[in-house]
Amino acid sequence: MDNTKRISLQAVRTAYIVVAISHLYLLVLVSESANATDPLGAIALPGCQDSCDGVPIPYPFGIGPSCCLSRDFQVSCNATNDTYTPYLFRAARVNYPVSSQCYNSTTKKVEYERYYAMLSGSSFRFSDNKNKFLVIGCDTLAFANFSDGQNYNWVGCASRCSSLEGLTNGSCSGLGCCQTDIPKATTIINVDFSAWYNNSDVYSFSRCSYATLMENDGFIFNTNYITTDYLKGLQMPLVLDWSIGNTTCDVAQNNSSSYACISKNSVCLNSSSGQGYLCNCSHGYGGNPYLEGGCQGLSLSAPLS
Ligand SMILES: *[C@@H]1O[C@H](CO)[C@@H](O)[C@H](O)[C@H]1NC(C)=O
Ligand SMILES: *[C@@H]1O[C@H](CO)[C@@H](O)[C@H](O)[C@H]1NC(C)=O
Ligand SMILES: *[C@@H]1O[C@H](CO)[C@@H](O)[C@H](O)[C@H]1NC(C)=O
Ligand SMILES: *[C@@H]1O[C@H](CO)[C@@H](O)[C@H](O)[C@H]1NC(C)=O
Ligand SMILES: *[C@@H]1O[C@H](CO)[C@@H](O)[C@H](O)[C@H]1NC(C)=O
Ligand SMILES: *[C@@H]1O[C@H](CO)[C@@H](O)[C@H](O)[C@H]1NC(C)=O
Ligand SMILES: *[C@@H]1O[C@H](CO)[C@@H](O)[C@H](O)[C@H]1NC(C)=O
Ligand SMILES: *[C@@H]1O[C@H](CO)[C@@H](O)[C@H](O)[C@H]1NC(C)=O
Ligand SMILES: *[C@@H]1O[C@H](CO)[C@@H](O)[C@H](O)[C@H]1NC(C)=O
Ligand SMILES: *[C@@H]1O[C@H](CO)[C@@H](O)[C@H](O)[C@H]1NC(C)=O
Ligand SMILES: *[C@@H]1O[C@H](CO)[C@@H](O)[C@H](O)[C@H]1NC(C)=O
Repeated sequence: MDNTKRISLQAVRTAYIVVAISHLYLLVLVSESANATDPLGAIALPGCQDSCDGVPIPYPFGIGPSCCLSRDFQVSCNATNDTYTPYLFRAARVNYPVSSQCYNSTTKKVEYERYYAMLSGSSFRFSDNKNKFLVIGCDTLAFANFSDGQNYNWVGCASRCSSLEGLTNGSCSGLGCCQTDIPKATTIINVDFSAWYNNSDVYSFSRCSYATLMENDGFIFNTNYITTDYLKGLQMPLVLDWSIGNTTCDVAQNNSSSYACISKNSVCLNSSSGQGYLCNCSHGYGGNPYLEGGCQGLSLSAPLS
């Protein structure tokens, strides 16, 4: 039986929904750069909470509907033991489960768990330069079927090993573990496995194969992943890029009531990974470009560490 699980990343649109489905999905938005915590004046809208559990929450993100730019950027900060505490200036990090195919030697059937994720219509997309499609297995050909919302394309990665000999513990070297890049502007991902490479030949030492999109940094291949069920359904960090709106800077600047780079001394940057734009403080200024008066002159006498 097909066991495809659909997980809508649109859940990031409201933190409450994230709480509701947190068994499947935990939104974990974390600070990408220490710069975000630079004490350069306000980072949130006036009257809004500017941190959650010590994690700064800079506008356009905000706690509660009136403290964020749009629902996409709404963050919830109430005590649960599910970690979904926020941040970001450039990226958000979420957890995404590993898809698997496992050969059952009793029933002689292949059991699949495939995870589908969709960001369509949101301000987020899968980061093309911070994630890789990762495939682990010894009798595996896995696909990542991607879409930018219009066209479907796919990339794949294959690995076949007749024994554990030759696998390198600690290094994703191609044998037992391979990685490939994904295209820009991807908002939908569908993980799939070729039925012809299904672990039936290697189940004596490797019953399962795995595939997922995950953050490049921080993954260390362990040969135990080949021989155990450890990765099955495990949540791995996945980086999302975000942007404001769906137009380039010059079009956005034309409408002063919706243009988001409202601070003096701010500049607009076209998103490098898809539609929309981001704001930055001009050279020599720091702070939050999305707030009035958010960009402040960097004092030459302050230590710039
Ligand atoms: C978090 O806050 C929201 C809105 O105040 C509430 O609906 C929800 O039940 C809270 N969740 C928990 C786990 O307290
Ligand atoms: C979170 O977990 C800790 C320890 O596991 C527990 O003491 C605390 O009550 C939990 N908090 C909530 C809101 O569930
Ligand atoms: C194989 O399938 C049988 C019948 O569905 C199930 O009871 C058993 O747990 C499966 N074996 C493994 C290792 O999952
Ligand atoms: C990719 O996914 C789409 C939508 O689910 C489907 O129509 C298409 O056949 C898939 N393509 C491949 C190569 O799996
Ligand atoms: C692979 O390396 C990890 C981390 O160093 C270690 O915990 C694990 O036992 C090693 N696995 C094997 C099969 O040697
Ligand atoms: C597994 O793949 C082999 C070909 O590599 C095929 O003959 C076999 O039918 C497949 N088994 C299942 C259960 O799909
Ligand atoms: C851009 O965003 C606007 C407002 O959210 C929406 O109506 C429009 O369909 C979007 N255009 C594209 C090409 O996504
Ligand atoms: C800006 O708005 C004006 C008037 O509505 C229009 O003529 C012009 O083409 C717009 N420019 C851009 C870049 O959208
Ligand atoms: C400018 O933005 C506002 C607020 O988003 C919107 O209501 C209005 O229609 C936009 N004007 C134009 C000319 O696009
Ligand atoms: C943004 O992209 C548009 C269209 O490609 C280009 O005309 C414009 O100069 C770019 N603006 C910036 C600030 O890079
Ligand atoms: C944003 O501004 C800071 C400070 O001027 C600068 O270091 C950084 O490179 C800028 N980022 C981009 C993407 O231009």
